Amino acid sequence: MLETEFGVPIPGEILPESQWAKTAIKRMPLPGGLVWSEIFGRTAPVVVELGCGNGRFTLLSAIRRPDHDHFATDLLPVVIRYATRRANQRGLHNVRFAVKDAETVVGRYLAPGSVAEVHLYHPQPYLDPRMINRRLVTPRFLADVHRALRSEGLFAIQTDNPDYWDYIRAVTPEFFAFRELDGPWPDAPEGRSRREILSRSHGLRIFRGEGVRREDVTPDAALALAERLPPPRFLSRGPWCELDSLESRNEHEPGPRRDDRHRPRR
Ligand SMILES: C[S@@+](CC[C@H](N)C(=O)[O-])C[C@H]1O[C@@H](n2cnc3c(N)ncnc32)[C@H](O)[C@@H]1O
Repeated sequence: MLETEFGVPIPGEILPESQWAKTAIKRMPLPGGLVWSEIFGRTAPVVVELGCGNGRFTLLSAIRRPDHDHFATDLLPVVIRYATRRANQRGLHNVRFAVKDAETVVGRYLAPGSVAEVHLYHPQPYLDPRMINRRLVTPRFLADVHRALRSEGLFAIQTDNPDYWDYIRAVTPEFFAFRELDGPWPDAPEGRSRREILSRSHGLRIFRGEGVRREDVTPDAALALAERLPPPRFLSRGPWCELDSLESRNEHEPGPRRDDRHRPRR
């Protein structure tokens, strides 16, 4: 059986139960720098995904890069349950999922210089003016990501919201040698994440970019930037907003048809 969402296969294959992994961190330790060698039982570059939703990118990356460890979190327990089940069934011993907000993860759990990559796909734009202070991408958040990344560490980000993107492309280069990317991801031409696939099926444009940590920005300078740069206060109107409200009314992994999940391989 092949699992799909919106007609696109979920990466990997379900293995016999004897080969399943345990990928859930059910109880996060008290805040403090996570020690990856204790969590994964080895030393390997660590890839962090924030607001991972159903974990599609982390599954893909963990399968393609068994020599990297992966730590992914989301606010919502229900999406972490989907992600964990799939990673378990695929025997991904190089993955851990946890329920935790991204601000706390980068601000309090990632030790300085401890992470090789941070990925953020489709951060919620929080369109209601009363909620815009919940937007994740702020100068302080970027300073925390900068601190957590090792030298040459990579930050990857994408959104379908052009107004959020205008903000991101204005502030991100202050911390990272940032470049905008054209065209689909080579490792996932149909989309790295659930939201990317959904947005593209609605004809929305995807804005993406990545950049390595700027070495000329010291931790103190990053904190000073965090104080000086503006917060994300944009207003947004357009079809991308309609998709957000549609999504917020739906379950968190609805798909166009629920039976799309287990479709026989053709
Ligand atoms: C639009 S969805 C994108 C999910 C996934 N990254 C994707 O591209 O399919 C936004 C996700 O961010 C999560 N989220 C929102 N605010 C968050 C926060 N402060 N920390 C962690 N996750 C957050 C939501 O629960 C949701 O799963």
